[in-house]
Amino acid sequence: MNYEEYLRRVPKVELHCHFEGTVRPQTFADLANKHGVELPTQDADKLYDYDSIYEFLKIFAMVSSTLRDQEDFARAAFESIEDGVKLGNLKYREMFFNPTLHTGRGIPYKTVVDGLVDGAREAERELGVKCRLIADVYRQDAPEVAREMVEQVLEHRPEEVIGLGMDGAEAPDPPEKFVEAYRLAKKGGLRLTAHACEDAPAKNVATCLDVLGVERIDHGYHVLGDPELVKRTRDEGITYTVCPTATAVCYFDADDLTKHPIRQMVDEGLTIMINSDDPPMFHTDIGREYVGMVQAAEWGPDRVREFVMNGIDGSWASDDEKRQMRQEFERELDELDAQLER
Ligand code: HPA
Ligand code: ZN
Repeated sequence: MNYEEYLRRVPKVELHCHFEGTVRPQTFADLANKHGVELPTQDADKLYDYDSIYEFLKIFAMVSSTLRDQEDFARAAFESIEDGVKLGNLKYREMFFNPTLHTGRGIPYKTVVDGLVDGAREAERELGVKCRLIADVYRQDAPEVAREMVEQVLEHRPEEVIGLGMDGAEAPDPPEKFVEAYRLAKKGGLRLTAHACEDAPAKNVATCLDVLGVERIDHGYHVLGDPELVKRTRDEGITYTVCPTATAVCYFDADDLTKHPIRQMVDEGLTIMINSDDPPMFHTDIGREYVGMVQAAEWGPDRVREFVMNGIDGSWASDDEKRQMRQEFERELDELDAQLER
């Protein structure tokens, strides 16, 4: 087996993947058709073309606007998990969704979350993959909107919903804006994470840890600008959920992952694990993210094993689930190692 095939077949955990960003172009087109949403082109895949977070977020909202009925959410969630399994041997996922992108256009929160849960449970039955859900604050929302969103999440809470996160454009809306939403979520027993240092200085990581109380950092690249904070998060073993292609497209050099800051994060001893972010919207998938990033950085199988184990350790699965996943992953990785041509 060559290394590319090996990397695709490595068992994977994903902790940074946005439901709305995983909708297949064909499903986007079907749902637009179903609900009479006019798209600027019939070829939905052609819309997935941008080089800034702002342009990306426009299309992300357009995709979201085609999701309306509970079945739409269920179908897209199932397909999203199925793609992870088929294209990258996904075993476990904690997936973001943006409640206010839906409730803000009149879709009841219950419709959204019940649909996602239907899709996730079908995927668990058919594919054996558990997918939990993290409600994301949308940074461009007002603080009261985010707080009300958390209230809704806590009021109607299937067991799959385990956490609060934060996404959207980072530079104009710093994390401290949402301290109240995070406080309420913590009080309600949700686990906490946030996108930080995707497009803003290192101090956003410190704010997320110290003011919001997050346990993980989604992205985190610009932490490299503050050596003290690098040391602190290394010592504390904070998990960084990094996404090679999506951030290369929006912020770095899309064509050259050899210069991606993820490399330096690894060299600095930070705990990272690899994710797909919004896979079809960046013409990628979780298998391809491993193939592209690992080969660009010339990391060997031992490093890869470390990253997938970081995914298990950094997840919010139960201790029992983690123990089981570690065993299963070790076994699969040993089998793959034995077949790898060196
Ligand atoms: N960053 C910010 N907003 C997003 C992202 C991301 O990675 N994906 C979907 N919305
Ligand atoms: Zn993201």
